[in-house]
Amino acid sequence: MDKMIIHGGVALKGKVALSGSKNAALPIIMASVLTADPVIIGNVPRLRDVRTAVDLLVRLGVQARWIGEHELELRAREITSHEAPYELVKTMRASFVALGPLLARTGRARVSTPGGCAIGARPVNLHIAGIRALGARIQLRNGYVEARAPHLCGARVWLDSPSVGATENIMMAAVLAKGTTLIENAAREPEVQDLARMLAAMGARIEGVGTHVIEIGGVERLHGTQHRVIPDRIEAGSLMVAAAITGGDLTIEDAPADQLGAVVEKLRETGVEISTHGGGLRVTANAPLRPVELRTLPYPGFPTDLQAQMMALLTQSSGTSVITETIFENRFMHALELLRMGADIVMKGPTAVVRGPSHLSGAPVMATDLRASMSLILAGLAADNETEVSRVYHLDRGYEALDAKLRSVGARIDRVPA
Ligand code: EPZ
Repeated sequence: MDKMIIHGGVALKGKVALSGSKNAALPIIMASVLTADPVIIGNVPRLRDVRTAVDLLVRLGVQARWIGEHELELRAREITSHEAPYELVKTMRASFVALGPLLARTGRARVSTPGGCAIGARPVNLHIAGIRALGARIQLRNGYVEARAPHLCGARVWLDSPSVGATENIMMAAVLAKGTTLIENAAREPEVQDLARMLAAMGARIEGVGTHVIEIGGVERLHGTQHRVIPDRIEAGSLMVAAAITGGDLTIEDAPADQLGAVVEKLRETGVEISTHGGGLRVTANAPLRPVELRTLPYPGFPTDLQAQMMALLTQSSGTSVITETIFENRFMHALELLRMGADIVMKGPTAVVRGPSHLSGAPVMATDLRASMSLILAGLAADNETEVSRVYHLDRGYEALDAKLRSVGARIDRVPA
């Protein structure tokens, strides 16, 4: 298990390019099950979670091959297994969105329930209720969802909360159903929109994506296509915070400004300057940071996947910031490690009060989940002396070659075997 060694205190400067979005690539890879034709997906990030998704598809009988550094060809000519096994789903919860496409394509699916994770209970009740509404018979047995539906039928599905995964799963079940499906209170995330673009390119009839009401007109069959995954807005936000926390000047190429409204707004409130530059964003931070209040919300609100990174930044602002996490019930694990580096953070339920500026000193710290690990890397870039972040396998799930990217703009960071 590798770890990252960081020597902080360097202002990051230069240009850095983004990888494709993990959270768009995963459901898009699963969508290849919906057709017997070849599907070619470009800008696929080389991540641990992507490897797991491809492993899962191969288990289902899908032919998979990398035809370029970031180009994947998938062909589900024949589905030879209906099972997404526990040992894969437990390592990557997003495997659960195999349920919708498998059921739509074959009428059968046996998918392990993901169980809880470090950031929360994360039940899948909305996925199950939605797919049941399309006429699937679903049983929960031995930790698996067993679903059967010789014919899925369009229906009206109301989501109690705009779940990203449930919207994606139900959308992929509905594209081959008889009749029309309405998903109400649907998720509006750019990753959901990118999946819908891919499905439409395969011949699906989908309207209203990006709004809270998605309408899907079922079709007989879907065909193959080529699709390029959108750049990763969460990686972009993480690098924007890297520029801010080091007092740097970074240009993030391809940063999707139109998807980062709430993030740009909050960073500007701290006093960071952000401008569009070429096809990306330029972030310069040369003024003392100001405190802010932020609340994580479903898109287009402030993303929960950038909360940990912002907390690291706000430890360096002059004053008291308040962070309220409304999406996951246990997403402050990184705060405990930031405290060990000298931060001043008080947590109470969904709220964390961050007082700054704190003098962060390098320390051995442990990552507990993907975004928490990025928060510790960022704190290490601002700390004096040496920070050692262990369990970076969490980082590998969602950031491609992060240490190399940060080194290319001046960071003193090395990945070493533990
Ligand atoms: C997606 O997870 C992302 N993962 C998460 O990113 C992200 O944090 C999350 O959306 C919110 O934006 C992927 O896209 C692979 P949800 P997902 O269903 O789909 C509750 C990262 O760091 N809920 O929108 O699992 C749930 O418990 C990851 O890249 C139910 O109660 O998120 C949570 O509190 C972490 N029942 C809330 O809804 C359900 O059936 C939002 O979850 C489903 C969800």
